[in-house]
Amino acid sequence: MTTETTLAESFDGRRFTYRVPRVSSIGPGDFVTIGVAFPETAEHPGEALVMGQVLTRATKAGDAVGHGRILGELRPDGTVVTSGGDPFTSQDLAPAGAGVLEALQARERATLRIGDLHHSRGNVDALLQPHRFNRHTFLCGQSGSGKTYALGVLLEQLLIDTDLPMVILDPNSDFVRIGELLESASPGDAERLRELDVRVLRNDGEHHPVTARLTAMEAASQAAVLQLDPLTDRGEYNTFLRMLESATGPEVGAAAPAARPPSIATEGMLNPHSIPSALRATGEADALRLAQRVENLGILDWDVWAGVGQSVSEVLDEGPRAVVVDLGSLHTHEEQLAVSLALLDDLWADRATRKPRLIVIDEAHNVVSAEPATQLQRLTTERVIQIAAEGRKFGLWLLLSTQRPSKIHPNVLSQCDNVIVMRMSSPADLVELEAVFGFAPPELLAATPFFHQGEALIAGGFVPAPAIIQMGARRTVEGGSDVPVPMPG
Ligand SMILES: Nc1ncnc2c1ncn2[C@@H]1O[C@H](COP(=O)(O)OP(=O)(O)O)[C@@H](O)[C@H]1O
Ligand SMILES: [Mg+2]
Repeated sequence: MTTETTLAESFDGRRFTYRVPRVSSIGPGDFVTIGVAFPETAEHPGEALVMGQVLTRATKAGDAVGHGRILGELRPDGTVVTSGGDPFTSQDLAPAGAGVLEALQARERATLRIGDLHHSRGNVDALLQPHRFNRHTFLCGQSGSGKTYALGVLLEQLLIDTDLPMVILDPNSDFVRIGELLESASPGDAERLRELDVRVLRNDGEHHPVTARLTAMEAASQAAVLQLDPLTDRGEYNTFLRMLESATGPEVGAAAPAARPPSIATEGMLNPHSIPSALRATGEADALRLAQRVENLGILDWDVWAGVGQSVSEVLDEGPRAVVVDLGSLHTHEEQLAVSLALLDDLWADRATRKPRLIVIDEAHNVVSAEPATQLQRLTTERVIQIAAEGRKFGLWLLLSTQRPSKIHPNVLSQCDNVIVMRMSSPADLVELEAVFGFAPPELLAATPFFHQGEALIAGGFVPAPAIIQMGARRTVEGGSDVPVPMPG
């Protein structure tokens, strides 16, 4: 027999089951209130409503049925408190009003606005808990789903609402105009963004270039740049190690004082081009091979060696609020990886200072690959895995964006407590997301193949409850938006 009323019950005060007429639009993700009249207590004067979220919906005997989770109790004064866990039977269930959702957000200190909640009863802001960016965050969605745009919205809001310093590894030159305000930006946002020290590093001859300091990198990282293997290239590797030892170890980034005994490494620090001739001058066979390797790989022709200029890490040390590293302005993938590795190594080496920093990596599969192909990629991947596992307590927090979860190393994915999923059509990817992010309800993940551009599922520690949202609008100029097809007329 079909029901004309709505019914909800809970045997443990944590979950509920419901039955509503099939015409009701209530479904997964919807926030509801359940009309339980709890007795008044000294702590909670007045009757309460239970607030819940529907997780599943199926059809049974002509009705819609399913279950959900209880999020809290709504007190008569409009506040939401943790549910007392009391069971109930046969209660009325209705879509929650906007005010109820806002009360929940207020309780969870969710204040960082990134868009609008998909909600049937009134407009409700989609709000994240800014203090929860002290965890790692994963953003994924297929190409064109709006990831980079969404990342831009999120970064702008973090710039406005927090004081969290950030560094952005930007492989497609998408964030190089983040300092330029759109006219549509509200005066308040515009003023706040204008006063921040946001620096764009870009190898275009106009900006501060994107550079690393080869000789300040860890030995293993330098060896990876040189594609040196300690066993297959025994002789050269050994020469390389001795070359490092001969360096008297100037301060990282400091110019070598003239009085120091000459060494390949210290000379190379200021002028890497002197490395091959210094190696040849030793007359050793392995040194000659190493010189040939350096020349054949064309490493000295890379634009990324800092020389007398500032490396990316040195720019970060000056304390700007945000640094965009335009990896897209570099010529080769190896250069992008070398700069990323040098930066990640330096951030890690500096971890004891416990300076909070959000490390944003767009197209993160390049830097933290599930299947690293080269030694350079292996090292960047290992470094990010280390930061993912241990960085939190040192204030190193990741924000990674990519198309497919399977392209990111699983040891990094499993460390992410916050997730944003945009349109995702591949069933295999959804299975993986469900397995890794147990806090993202499967029924909401199942909706992601049907998302429009800019729609997202947000779940995890940085939201009061998982929700489907529409991302808001950017306030600064997008860098590398899609090139339109030329049309006649
Ligand atoms: N929420 C949005 N509002 C307006 N335009 C958007 C939105 N999301 C994406 N776009 C536009 O769609 C295109 C692709 O978005 P992008 O963020 O680059 O996708 P992805 O990084 O997922 O490949 C860009 O030109 C971008 O400007
Ligand atoms: Mg993108």
